[in-house]
Amino acid sequence: MIDGNKVLFSGMQATGTLTLGNYLGALKNWVTLSDEYQCFYSVVDLHSITVRQDPAELRKRARNLLTLYIAAGLDPEKNCIYYQSQVSGHAELSWILNCFTYMGELNRMTQYKDKAAKHADNINAGLFTYPVLMAADILLYQSDVVPVGKDQLQHLEITRDIAQRFNAIYGDVFTIPEPYIGKAGAKIMSLQDPSKKMSKSDENANASIYLMDDPDTIIRKFKRAVTDSEACVRYREEQPGICNLIDIYCACTGKTPEEVEKEFDGKGYGDFKLAVGEAVVDVLKPVQERFADLCKDKAYIDGIIKTNAEKANYYATKTLRKVQKKVGFPERIR
Ligand code: TRP
Repeated sequence: MIDGNKVLFSGMQATGTLTLGNYLGALKNWVTLSDEYQCFYSVVDLHSITVRQDPAELRKRARNLLTLYIAAGLDPEKNCIYYQSQVSGHAELSWILNCFTYMGELNRMTQYKDKAAKHADNINAGLFTYPVLMAADILLYQSDVVPVGKDQLQHLEITRDIAQRFNAIYGDVFTIPEPYIGKAGAKIMSLQDPSKKMSKSDENANASIYLMDDPDTIIRKFKRAVTDSEACVRYREEQPGICNLIDIYCACTGKTPEEVEKEFDGKGYGDFKLAVGEAVVDVLKPVQERFADLCKDKAYIDGIIKTNAEKANYYATKTLRKVQKKVGFPERIR
C-alpha cells in the first residue's frame, strides 16, 4: 500500500516498435488502472540486454517508449514512469532472489526455452535468470497486482513462489502479488495470419499496425487483412480474420460485436475493413500527436525521468534495505 492505494507494477521492453496489439491489449488499460492503483510502469531495459542490442538504438527506443507511455495518457505526476536501469535496486534484489530460486524452476520456463531456441548463439545466463529479475521488479515495490498477458503468467507464478519461500524463512517481507485479470484486454491477432498474436517482432510489416503508422498505411494494411470467403460480417469461430477485425473495431469504438454485426448487415468486407481502418486512425491520431509534441520538449521529459527515477528509487530502497537486513548484510554506511 502506498498512501492507502494498492500498488500495481508492469513493464514493457523497448525492443521492436509497439503495435496496435500492445496499445489495445495493455497500454490503454494501464491508463484506466491508474485511477485505482498506485502504479509503477517501467521501461525494462535491464531485461532488453538478455538479447544483443545496438546501444544507440536501445537508448532511442527506450526513450521513445517512455515518452509513449505519457502520450498514451499515463499522467507522469500520478504514475511512476521510469527506466529500470536507473534504479539499482532491481539488480541488487535480483541477485539476492537468485539465491532463493532453483535451477529446476527456471528450467521449466517456456519463454526461456523459446528464446534459447531463437537465439541459439547467445544463450546467456541473463536469459535464464530473466524471471528472477522480473520477480525483483514486482517485489521491490511490494506490488499487489500485476497486469500481464498469458505469456507472462508463468513468470508471475514463479515470482509468487520465490516471495513465499523468502517470507517462510524471514517473516512477512514481501507482498504476494496477484495477476490482474481485468475486463479482458483485447487480444489482437496478426492481420495476415489470425491464428498468431499481432507481434512487434513479426517480419511481415503488413501483419501489424504500428502505433506510429500514418493513416494511409493503416487503411492500406486493413484493406489487405486476411479474411475468408463468407463475405459477411459475423462473429463466428470459423471466421478468425473477421473476428479479429470485429475485436479491433469494438476495442476502438466501445461497441459490442452484436452492434457491429447489425451495423454491417448486408455490407461487404470492403466497407467493413475501411471502417475498422478509420476507427483505428481515430484512436491512434491523438496519441501520435501528443507523442510528437512531447518529443519536442526535451527538458520536460528529462524532468519527468529524473523525478520519477527518484520516486521509484525511494520505494525500491525501502524494500531493499529490509531484505538486506533480513539476510544478514551489514547496515549501509551513509
Ligand atoms: N517480461 C515482460 C514482457 O516481456 C516485461 C516485464 C519485465 C514485466 N518485468 C516485469 C511485466 C514485471 C510485468 C511485471 O512482457
